[in-house]
Parts: sequence; structure tokens; C-alpha cells
Amino acid sequence: MNLIDGNKVAAEIKQEIAEEVKQIIDNGGKQPHLAAILVGHDGGSETYVAYKIKDCEAVGFKSSLIRYEDDVTEEELLAKVEELNNDDDLDGFIVQLPLPKHISEQKVIEAIDPRKDVDGFHPINVGRMVIGLPSFVSATPYGIVELLKRYNIETSGKNCVVLGRSNIVGRPMSVLMSQKAINATVTVAHSRTANLKEVCANADILIVAMGVPEFVTADMVKEGAVVIDVGTTRVKSDKTKSGWKLKGDVLYDEVAPKCSYITPVPGGVGPMTRTSLLLNTLLSAKKEIYK
Ligand code: GUN
Repeated sequence: MNLIDGNKVAAEIKQEIAEEVKQIIDNGGKQPHLAAILVGHDGGSETYVAYKIKDCEAVGFKSSLIRYEDDVTEEELLAKVEELNNDDDLDGFIVQLPLPKHISEQKVIEAIDPRKDVDGFHPINVGRMVIGLPSFVSATPYGIVELLKRYNIETSGKNCVVLGRSNIVGRPMSVLMSQKAINATVTVAHSRTANLKEVCANADILIVAMGVPEFVTADMVKEGAVVIDVGTTRVKSDKTKSGWKLKGDVLYDEVAPKCSYITPVPGGVGPMTRTSLLLNTLLSAKKEIYK
């Protein structure tokens, strides 16, 4: 069993980005700039956004954090999105989800200029990705593809099962895995899939993004499979200082011995998700997606 070390790969990529940023600036270019809008005080969102800002500093990006209380109106938020769309200094920005219930997430996502949508959530970016045009790809699938590449994991002709069909992970992941550069044969499985156990046990590459802690057990995994665990459910723990612990969607101790490669939680996909946002921001700064 080989461990896929997301922390190690993410550190390598961050180093590469930092070197590129230095070159851009040495050549008289503009410092890449990412902004994040954070609404309210959700614990998970606070943590994720703080990491995103910290990552920017680590690679030499400029970053801006724009905060609103929970009672911000949709109108105010949309006006800010419009302002950021027109801010020439800004290469990309994200609106951290989830948003309070009185605000339509879809409306906000669609208000973001696709050229600055470094989350890759706008339907134009999703559509371009599906038909193989240059696009911003959402961070987790992008990070997983990068992990598979950097570990030289054979994907061509392999059976890939993606467990989960969210707009952010499962669905884009399934599209990417079937693209010509990757060439896997893809099955998208979900809560209504019949014979789920058998479907998963047929996978050479099993990508699990259900959000159900320890859902995948050893009997669902083929001997020698590559298992990618996207789950990051925060559960209460009296063993950690913070009082919280991250749990993956895979019952790691039981599944790992059967795998050729597996991602741990934490330290697998999570760090790569963060790195992808930086990669997208750099692509935007270099105008590589939209000329
Ligand atoms: N909430 C959870 N993950 C994400 C993400 O990747 N981007 C944004 N904007 N919100 C999130």
C-alpha cells in the first residue's frame, strides 16, 4: 500500500507557484491577487477562508478578505460581486459557501464574471470544462487530477467509480476522468445506485465524495484499487486540542491494506484543494484560460 501524500505534493506545487510569482514580479509584472468574500461566522468557513488567505501569503499573492454579517442582503452581496468583477487589480475571487438561506447561492455564483471565477463554479466554466475548452476547474477535482498525475497513477482504460454527484466534486470529477487526457471508463454512483457494493468493488480507481464518514468499508474495495477519499466531516473528539477531528468517507484502517494507493484524511485531498485555488488564480493572472 502506498500513501498518497497530499501535504507533500501541495508543498511542491506551492514552491513552484512561489517561484513563478517571483519571476513575474522580477519581470515587472503585477502581483497575482485573490479576494474572498466570507458571510457570517460558520466555523468551517472561517477555517477554510483563513487557510486560503494564509496560502496566498505563502506563495507571494496579494489577498483581500471581505467580510459580511449573516444579515447582509442579497442585493448588497451582488453589488460587491459586481464591484470585484470590475476591479482590474483582482485576478480572481471566491464567495465562500454556504451562504445564509435568504441569499440565492446560484444567483451569486452566476453574477461572478467567469474570467474571475477561480472556484470554477460558474455555469460557463462548468460548460467549458465539459466540452474540453480551457476553463477554471473546481478545486477538489483539479487537485485530485494533479495527485493522480504526480503519482504516475495509470488511468487509461481503468474503471473509475465516482461516489457522489455534487456540483463541486462528484460531477466535475466524473467528467474530468472521462476526458481524453485521462481516458478512464467512468461510473457515477450515488445514494440511489443499485448494488452499490458491487459497483464500488469493480473500481480500479474509487473516488469517494459522499460526505458520510467511514461509508466505504473493505468489502466495497477491490484488491489493488486506488482509493481517493474526499470526505472531511468534522466530528467532535475529546482527543484533540480543538475538540474536533476530521473523518474521511473511507474506513481507512480496514480499507488501506487492500489498496495500491490511498489518500489519508487529513493530509490527502484537502491540501490539494487549497493548492488548486492558487493554481487557478495564477492561471487567471497569466490570462491562460481567457486570453
Ligand atoms: N465551501 C466549501 N468548499 C468551497 C469551495 O471550494 N469554494 C467556496 N467558494 N466555498 C466552499
